[in-house]
Amino acid sequence: MAYEEVYARFLSDPQDFWAQAAREIDWMEPWQQVLDDSRPPFYHWFSGGVLNTCYNALDRHVDGGRAQQLALVYDSPVTQSQRSFTYAELRDEVARFAGVLVRLGAGKGDRVIIYMPMIPEAVIAMLACARIGAIHSVVFGGFSSRELATRIDDAKPKVMVAGSCGIEPNRIVQYKPLLDQAIELATHKPQSCVVLQREQGPGELLEGRDIAWSEAMAAAQPQACVPVAATDPLYILYTSGTTGQPKGVVRDNGGHAVAMKWSMRAVYGVEPGEVFWAASDVGWVVGHSYIVYAPLLHGCTTVLYEGKPVGTPDPGAFWRVIAEHGVSVLFTAPTAFRAIKREDPGAEYLRRYDLQGFRALFLAGERCDSDTLAWAASNLQVPVIDHWWQTETGWAIAANCLGIEQLPVKPGSPTKAVPGYRVEVLDEQGDEAPAGDIGRIMLRLPLPPGCLPTLWNDDQRFVDSYLRAEDGYYLTGDAGFQDEDGYLFIMSRIDDIINVAGHRLSTGGMEEVLASHPDVAECAVIGAHDDLKGELPVGLVVLKSGVSRREKEIKEELIAAVREKIGPVAAFKKVTLVERLPKTRSGKILRGTMKKIADGAEYRMPATIDDPTALDEVERALQKIGYASGP
Ligand code: COA
Ligand code: AMP
Repeated sequence: MAYEEVYARFLSDPQDFWAQAAREIDWMEPWQQVLDDSRPPFYHWFSGGVLNTCYNALDRHVDGGRAQQLALVYDSPVTQSQRSFTYAELRDEVARFAGVLVRLGAGKGDRVIIYMPMIPEAVIAMLACARIGAIHSVVFGGFSSRELATRIDDAKPKVMVAGSCGIEPNRIVQYKPLLDQAIELATHKPQSCVVLQREQGPGELLEGRDIAWSEAMAAAQPQACVPVAATDPLYILYTSGTTGQPKGVVRDNGGHAVAMKWSMRAVYGVEPGEVFWAASDVGWVVGHSYIVYAPLLHGCTTVLYEGKPVGTPDPGAFWRVIAEHGVSVLFTAPTAFRAIKREDPGAEYLRRYDLQGFRALFLAGERCDSDTLAWAASNLQVPVIDHWWQTETGWAIAANCLGIEQLPVKPGSPTKAVPGYRVEVLDEQGDEAPAGDIGRIMLRLPLPPGCLPTLWNDDQRFVDSYLRAEDGYYLTGDAGFQDEDGYLFIMSRIDDIINVAGHRLSTGGMEEVLASHPDVAECAVIGAHDDLKGELPVGLVVLKSGVSRREKEIKEELIAAVREKIGPVAAFKKVTLVERLPKTRSGKILRGTMKKIADGAEYRMPATIDDPTALDEVERALQKIGYASGP
């Protein structure tokens, strides 16, 4: 019963448990307190400790015998190119780019926003920030300039680092004009922008502000790692909240390094020297944790893949990468496997590759449906592990910890709490829900190392968003239940966040965009079921009285507005018009009921509904666009 033993050891003395894990990290100065709990609900791990995350991810391995081992393999089917870096090479590139940042005036505590596609320079820029104690904030390329501007105003970066373009299978996305627009929109103006010019779409540089990556690197002096407090921020990563204003999740240096390193062996069962591949994007938390930090802290080779699961060029792309680079463990979102399964249901492509060294597949980011799990397990013949976490935690809350003990898989469940987390399902009164009953999934404070200590510049929002629901608990925002064996099942969100292709999006943010259209009186956005992406946003819109413009035109404008103001990643393509929205008597829009109608699921008429006939109208409107069992 190894899992039970490890979990019991954590429970009996959490501080000793994490102090032992922290010995795997190189500290410049030891911590004075494992856990500083003097100011609840704010907790800090390893306070007094001093380290450098970049040192632990690179220099330490170069000095310790891994200088010639590959640290990073870049595989880019969209540019038909590959590049790789040994630990020594990556350390040198990072040290030099740290010199670029220092020359541009960035230092400890300064923010640097990175807006780049999946290229090695994105990883180099992140680690270079860590090297000099600057705080990076990576913004996903599929976000619009307005979203980027919001993040610029919140993080107030001194320097921006961008790629000139991203490459999507169907088009080149010019990032540079988006960057320029964002800076124009933002109130805060960064001093300088370093632009990595890509031959597929170079950008125009603005004299005095912009500098080309190659030029900057040629003039830079390599920098050594600076000492950083364990409690100093390493990065800010913005994630969707319930409004259009994203939340700046802060990650500290010490607790993060400890949790990342520990998780590689305990959760993923990976040893130093092995090849680990997280097929995600550096713009998401999965990319931060498991493309960049954890595999490097553990001395693994990490794969950076600039491509898609299908179409680049075919549904065998993942198998090619695994075979070609000797990947032991792959981590991706279920939607990627649904895409592969849809194009290659018989797994014909899989048989063309030798996947001998491949040991396990981990899935996260959204609920994993049983069909996808079964398809992956029967074709790959390796453990397929669903695990559950979120941007805020930075690593798995619940998992089948392969490095501790492989527990039996229950489809639909990410198994049990990972040691470090105390997970409870609470009912509306705040009591623990009986096994099998759905409730709010909460984590008991303090959260383990690696989880967010607060939101950037906003302690109050941190408390209001996560800690107010029940005293002594963190609210995950997910609802679900625990079965009699203690297995967790994550069923839905309790807020207005939806999950599109493993990407977390705020329907509230989309509603704000729709509501700003001059013809819109009222609107609601719901996440309707989608076989490929899990959920897709659907807009229900009430027009202002007297509006007589063509419906088609208005709908096109609404779709274009969401794409422009939030970004293509929102995948907002469905909108329908209604005369009124169903509401409770107190005026609350019944989004949950509308979602059930869209999905053709059974629903109970809410007792507090104001006018039941509004639901019939919603059903007809949704049918027109292919939902609610429509055509
Ligand atoms: N820069 C600019 N645009 C981007 C982008 C980026 N980095 N990433 C995605 N987009 C655009 C896409 O081009 C697409 O635009 P379109 O409306 O013009 O077609 C839109 O955003 C939606 O992208 P995506 O969600 O990737 O959908 P898709 O239809 O192109 O591909 C999948 C579908 C399933 C193949 C894809 O979603 C996928 O690979 N998912 C894996 C999920 C994942 O990695 N999740 C991360 C968490 S683990
Ligand atoms: P993000 O912060 O973008 O990583 O999204 C986190 C959210 O995605 C969680 O709060 C869940 O709603 C959902 N999620 C992530 N992993 C899983 C999983 N394994 N099963 C169910 N939902 C998941």
